[in-house]
Amino acid sequence: MKRKLSAFLVLPLLAALSAAVPATVHADDEDNPQALRKAEMHVLKVSLGGIIALSKGDAKPADVKDYVTRRADAIYGVARGLPTLFPEGSEGGKAKAAIWSDMDGFTAKADALAMAAVDLRKAGESGDMAAIGASIKAIGGACGACHKAYRE
Ligand code: HEC
Repeated sequence: MKRKLSAFLVLPLLAALSAAVPATVHADDEDNPQALRKAEMHVLKVSLGGIIALSKGDAKPADVKDYVTRRADAIYGVARGLPTLFPEGSEGGKAKAAIWSDMDGFTAKADALAMAAVDLRKAGESGDMAAIGASIKAIGGACGACHKAYRE
């Protein structure tokens, strides 16, 4: 029956949800860092996925330069904040204990991703598909290097 909800019912529901979301997300930030970091990791996955689709010719954004630079900025923004998503006492999920015993090493991996995102931005500004492809590989490498060391 859920699929048959009429707009009459759904619209007020959406309005109520959108009013409730900021407060809920805020509470989760403080109470559930594991949920927040998973959500941020998905921002990375989706951002990288979009550019990979573009580089394979599966997706054709109207403005390639604009698209790639915006995705690069999104990856950069998440990368810069990554260490803050793993506060003391938030152990669990697939996060290895090594994150907290070696926060400097973990932060260096996040910095490496941020630097790779800067290169992706430059490649995006140039619009050079070969440079974009090389940057994608570097970003994938930065994701993998951290996962290998710090993810179960
Ligand atoms: C500095 C370290 C680091 C970097 C860089 C990093 N990750 Fe992660 N990632 C982690 C850790 C740690 C986890 C496990 C988190 C947990 O379970 O609490 C994770 C989990 C994930 C997950 C699973 C989320 C879930 O729902 O369980 C995805 C997807 C992911 N990362 C994608 C990426 C992508 C794509 C990149 C690169 C663009 C990336 N990550 C870069 C450390 C990193």
